[in-house]
Amino acid sequence: MSVLRTKPIKDVIAQGDADGTDGRLGLKRRLGAIDLTGFGIGIVIGTGIFTLTGIEARDSAGPGVVISFAIAGVVALLAALCYAELASSVPTAGSAYTYAYATMGEIVAWIIGWDLLLEFALGAAVVARGWSGYLAELLDLPTRWFGEEGSTVNIGAIAIVLILGIVGIIGIRESARVTNLLVLVKVAICVFVVVAGLFFVKAANLSPFIPAAEPAGSGDDGIKQPVTQALFGLEPSVFGFVGVLSAAAVVFFAYTGFEAVANLGEETRKPKRDLTLGLLGTLLISTVLYIGVSLVVVGMVPYTEIDRGAPIASAFESVGAGWAATLVSIAAVAGLTSVILVDLVAMGRIGFAIARDGLIPPAIAAVHPRWGTPYRISAIMTVAVALLAGFLPLSALADLVSIGALCAFVLVSIAVPILRRKRPDLERPFRVPFSPVLPIVSALACFYLMLNLSVETWLRFLAWMLLGGIIYFGYGYRRNRLARHEPAVAPAPRESSA
Ligand code: ALA
Repeated sequence: MSVLRTKPIKDVIAQGDADGTDGRLGLKRRLGAIDLTGFGIGIVIGTGIFTLTGIEARDSAGPGVVISFAIAGVVALLAALCYAELASSVPTAGSAYTYAYATMGEIVAWIIGWDLLLEFALGAAVVARGWSGYLAELLDLPTRWFGEEGSTVNIGAIAIVLILGIVGIIGIRESARVTNLLVLVKVAICVFVVVAGLFFVKAANLSPFIPAAEPAGSGDDGIKQPVTQALFGLEPSVFGFVGVLSAAAVVFFAYTGFEAVANLGEETRKPKRDLTLGLLGTLLISTVLYIGVSLVVVGMVPYTEIDRGAPIASAFESVGAGWAATLVSIAAVAGLTSVILVDLVAMGRIGFAIARDGLIPPAIAAVHPRWGTPYRISAIMTVAVALLAGFLPLSALADLVSIGALCAFVLVSIAVPILRRKRPDLERPFRVPFSPVLPIVSALACFYLMLNLSVETWLRFLAWMLLGGIIYFGYGYRRNRLARHEPAVAPAPRESSA
């Protein structure tokens, strides 16, 4: 049963405490609560609010999409509460991967680590392609090199991944500065959208708030249908409360990413307090902005006429405020830039935690002596993401990002009561209220949302997991630190020069 061996919490804490100053492998503590919230909002507010609002209002929920955003926000908040308890008691770069290693066993930890690598690497690649397309539109650049049409190499996507990858490697403080600036731009524009949009809201557009349910037209079938539909043979329908619920599953994408905050536990000066603030602050701010923006959009335009591609910009155009549309595009480009940056930063931290444990070759966990970042693993993965983004049309893979996040949320929620039982004595600066009820509800809600994703997404996800299984049994199972009885905190590998 050694695939279920667990890592002692004291080792996890000792790894997290090493900051590289005493010759042990560790990251530098340079972040505060505001930086963490900046990183959180940086990765959360992205394509979701700028595109999904239109599609879901028009095709699935009508003005009720506002309720969908609220429901998805509550589910994300439940998961964030669970993250906050674990992150504040066991601050670590590996987040869910490490919590699982300490509670559910090595193989579950590997599955979750491999899953998070997929989420963040693919998230960065998918968003980089979207970024390139937006930039082409804003600056009228040739779509051959920046868009999806007729392009063989997406130069814009490669360039943005490499540039942000370098920012991420040069330092966590530098990354925080760039992220905070981009976040200010996008939050300011979102607030502007809400305030300016309120003047154009017409009560008539908001009624009926939830249009009556009707059968879906020529709905998707085969591997494109949601798993719930395939399993239970449900008749697809749109609108009504069912439509609002299924829209909630889709717009959940807009909240994914906040968990990246938990990966910065070893770089936070006061992790016990600030990780909780960063996680919950990110979600509260995003939920309020999302509800405000979606309410204004469905209030400005009858839901049957909302634009599917660029709902917010078109809403302003339709009331004769075209200049606002340009502002929205700038917010979108700023928004997407920070999403890519934080995805790349989080991806490096997870890779670092896995390599430090020896589940992948430990030499790539080296921390740069001056920059204090896991530069080798970050560089390797940045190049891989740049190639992916440059050569593959990835938009169809966006749902894989959601399934990756949801799978992590399910396991993190389950880990809360397990860790309480295993280590009741552990200092818990933040405690999820009503445990184990609330963590169980969180796990079930996230699993329900996973079931609303398509059969195709599940098959791709399982294929990725199969590849992970081959790597684990081919390498990590025998070579990792626990298997070789090596001490948890490794000395830092020698650096030749800065
Ligand atoms: N939550 C991120 C977005 O909406 C992934 O783009």
